[in-house]
Amino acid sequence: MARKIAVTSALPYANGPIHLGHLVEYLQTDIWVRFQKMCGNECLYFCADDTHGTPIMISARKAGIDPEELIGRMQKEHKADFDGFHIEFDNYYSTHSPENKHFSELIFNRLNEAGSIVTRDVEQTYCENCRMALPDRFVRGVCPKCKAEHQYGDSCEVCGTTYRPSDLINPYCATCGATPTLKTSEHYFFKLADYEQQLRDLITKGHTQKSVANKLDEWFTAGLKDWDISRDGPYFGFKIPGEENKYFYVWLDAPIGYMASAKNYCDKNNLDFDKLWPGTGSTPSDSGDYELYHFIGKDIMYFHALFWPAMLIGAGIKSAEKLFIHGFLTVNGEKMSKSRGTFIRASTYLKHLDPESLRYYYAGKLTDSIDDIDLKFEDFINKINSDVVGKFANLASRSGPMLTKQLDAQLGQLDAQGRELIDKLVAAKDGIIDDYENLRYAAAVRSIVALADEANRYVEQNQPWVTIKTDPEKTRTVLTATLNAVRILTIYLKPIMPKYAEKVEQFLGIKPLSFADIGSVLENHKINHFERLAERIDEKQVNAMVEESKEGQVAQPAESPAEPFKPECTIDDFAKIDLRIAKVLKAESVEGADRLLHLVLDVGGGIEKNVFAGIATAYQPEQLNGKMVVFLANLKPRKMKFGLSEGMILASGSGGKDIFMLTADPGAQPGQEIH
Ligand code: 2FM
Ligand code: ZN
Repeated sequence: MARKIAVTSALPYANGPIHLGHLVEYLQTDIWVRFQKMCGNECLYFCADDTHGTPIMISARKAGIDPEELIGRMQKEHKADFDGFHIEFDNYYSTHSPENKHFSELIFNRLNEAGSIVTRDVEQTYCENCRMALPDRFVRGVCPKCKAEHQYGDSCEVCGTTYRPSDLINPYCATCGATPTLKTSEHYFFKLADYEQQLRDLITKGHTQKSVANKLDEWFTAGLKDWDISRDGPYFGFKIPGEENKYFYVWLDAPIGYMASAKNYCDKNNLDFDKLWPGTGSTPSDSGDYELYHFIGKDIMYFHALFWPAMLIGAGIKSAEKLFIHGFLTVNGEKMSKSRGTFIRASTYLKHLDPESLRYYYAGKLTDSIDDIDLKFEDFINKINSDVVGKFANLASRSGPMLTKQLDAQLGQLDAQGRELIDKLVAAKDGIIDDYENLRYAAAVRSIVALADEANRYVEQNQPWVTIKTDPEKTRTVLTATLNAVRILTIYLKPIMPKYAEKVEQFLGIKPLSFADIGSVLENHKINHFERLAERIDEKQVNAMVEESKEGQVAQPAESPAEPFKPECTIDDFAKIDLRIAKVLKAESVEGADRLLHLVLDVGGGIEKNVFAGIATAYQPEQLNGKMVVFLANLKPRKMKFGLSEGMILASGSGGKDIFMLTADPGAQPGQEIH
């Protein structure tokens, strides 16, 4: 009986482009969904943009547009990237949707009625310098659990613990480096610990891979803490029912976006949502018809293995059968890096290389574990050239054209030797299906490559290019076996390389292939003109992609919301800026602000000014004494925690060590104007 399955991938944030790291998950999921569909199962794939939160609000402000416009643009970009990689969602939606608002309020109200929501005052981090409450990711510091440095304010990338920004040790504002202050405000909390037993039961029943059980155990042992689910305005999100200036934290409504996308699909396709995702209606429902799986990365395990199922259990709504958790992507053995050009956008890749090459390469690396996978360029080029071009496409290209050009494009029948080859290929079916089903794509690929080797050996032995001159009918028989092998290998490869499969289907003149077709053979059948199936990769293509991805060289379309332009300023606005030469009289570190240096400047006319400059990661105080710098003299003084900042010195760069102060000739005079 055909299964009914609903599948999701994590919702990408609407404040940045899709890159090759993201694609590990979307390709892993897409391959699985395509595999299920090819098995005759109904498998629906839902996703959406994750649109809420302060970073998106701030990006929109900077671009001078509404957040709605920004997320609309971003959604189009994301969708184009996914389409480019043949990632086929049944519905790609948005968390900023009426369905999501409805479900977020429903779940919140039900949890509230169940007594699992409490309010209490929290001290929230506030940057006096930036004059705003700092969202979790805008505060950094030392992880309170494992003591790793420079961790975000919501969770630690090293040990996975989640916490509040105020729990960080030595916190600093990620924007300006100042130490944030604390302001008190009432927040809503979800009592996660109320669901500990149910969560443990879920995990015992196999909700996650066994390999993550230890991590989950650690979290249970550490104790499940209440989860802060509200944020004060200004915030881009859904208002909490009954509140004027409090919103659901983006991570509350993000996973609910899975449901919203599914509901939107059901409404458009006349399906009963209650059968797909039971429990949201006003009357209790049965267990539904669909299996439900979430594909996620290991960085968001806490949210998906604990918060999300607990919210659903508390609200009486179905939770997923299983989470499929994968590792991160490294490139050439290292973390993706903008400066090395290995932080590669999906759109950049697509300008240089075939999407199916990456689909094949990732599939060849993916297992059911949460280990990271490495994209090694040299290996990538070799794999595509040797397997896809040299083994799969070659099998077709050495038999298809010969049959069409010299044997009327007509397949004959299998003989005993051909039958033997095909039987071997067919016999691998159950193993390959099992590997796909259980996310062991690398093992499936290994088996398929071994079968292609077998088929290529058969061609070598039978030498059709020789026999064609003496025995055309024997040659037809050999080519019939070879092209049947191509057909079966294509079925096996189709979840990974759907476009390659389409080309094979076209040239063999057959209907779209599925796993059910493995049992039959193609005999006495006319094929079509052969088109090339795959192209070799040249190292130059990879190099060009890397060059284009290097920091500072990525061409940004003018309307790109990733690095938006600020609203227009006139030449008159610009003329208001008073730039002067200043001499550094004294430079010293600022206690409690790792990134700031305190400078005392001689700005001419016997006047001295104090400036707090965010350059400490690039300059030692002693390097600066006596330096001639460029000083913005008429900037309104700002009161900072450490004192009054009476201007600004000019520097540029991407941060960290890459900050370059603008300096003037040592012979220049303090106070001299710069035009
Ligand atoms: O980590 C992220 O990129 C989040 N936007 C994932 C959200 S997944 C789901 F919960 F919506
Ligand atoms: Zn700040």
